[in-house]
Amino acid sequence: MISPDADPSKATRTSVRTVIVPAAGMGTRFLPATKTVPKELLPVVDTPGIEMIAEEAAAAGATRLAVVTAPHKEGVLGHFRPRPDLEETLRERGKDAIADKVNRACEVITVAPVVQERPLGLGHAVLVAEELLDADEDAVAVMLPDDLVLPRGVMDRMAEVRARFGGSVLCALELPREEVSSYGVFDIADCAEEGFADVKRVRGMVEKPEPAEAPSNFAAVGRYLLDRAVFDALRAIPRGKGGEYQLTDAIEALIEDGHPVHVVVHDGFRHDLGNPGGFIRACVDFGLAAPEYGPGLRRYLQARLAEDDTAAARDDGSGRGA
Ligand code: G1P
Repeated sequence: MISPDADPSKATRTSVRTVIVPAAGMGTRFLPATKTVPKELLPVVDTPGIEMIAEEAAAAGATRLAVVTAPHKEGVLGHFRPRPDLEETLRERGKDAIADKVNRACEVITVAPVVQERPLGLGHAVLVAEELLDADEDAVAVMLPDDLVLPRGVMDRMAEVRARFGGSVLCALELPREEVSSYGVFDIADCAEEGFADVKRVRGMVEKPEPAEAPSNFAAVGRYLLDRAVFDALRAIPRGKGGEYQLTDAIEALIEDGHPVHVVVHDGFRHDLGNPGGFIRACVDFGLAAPEYGPGLRRYLQARLAEDDTAAARDDGSGRGA
């Protein structure tokens, strides 16, 4: 398990004030749970993914979380509102630590809601949040709550890269080629600048290509630091992959227009909270790291896996593993 927090001494503040968090998806892969509970509120141990995003945004220096929801998903916003009744009951019962946890989401950052009325894609979700920005904001961040990028702190590095090269900066992970068809994939060139060995210049970007057609195996993982020009690009693009307005296509359009786009190749790991398989792994990782649950979970997993291995050896005529 990778420690969730990067070395804080290395952190610098980003200049972005607003982080857009698209949270309008239907959570199809988590149905029936997501019939009434928004996917973004499903707990990793005890904390919803979107609260972790709020903490990451605040740690990167942002002060406003522009949460894009869909009709019927107002529960996402409720998580960021105070619950004085609950807090009072908890404090009366001496459960101050839990009361503090309940308040955390309300105190960490200011939430500004906006509704995406129709599911027209990630690019469209980002575009509807433009109205929340102040006139003097020349850049905006986007953080996808499906993606937990660990160790935390990549936005600080992305801000350093924007400070040096201007334009827009994204986070990339190098993945096995057969996995890239689930992602926006970069066409990249090396960046010869000293002190930026982890940075590549982006020549193009393609949304969810077939592995054989992918320009590289460097994929976008849910962290974007975008020049405000992205909104004009979003207004101009046609519908793309899946009939939706794709953020990837707007970034490709920025590159074609000569805007600098770079990626920070993240030296770490990403949990995909957007599907049950990835979500379960995140729960196991964070569960193992939690002081109150880790030791018991470790013992359980070890015993459980040993049981499976024994059963597999028994069923296997070769006696392998016996
Ligand atoms: C979105 C983006 C894609 C990106 C991915 C990261 O896809 O469209 O470019 O690589 O997030 O998680 P989604 O997973 O929403 O289909």
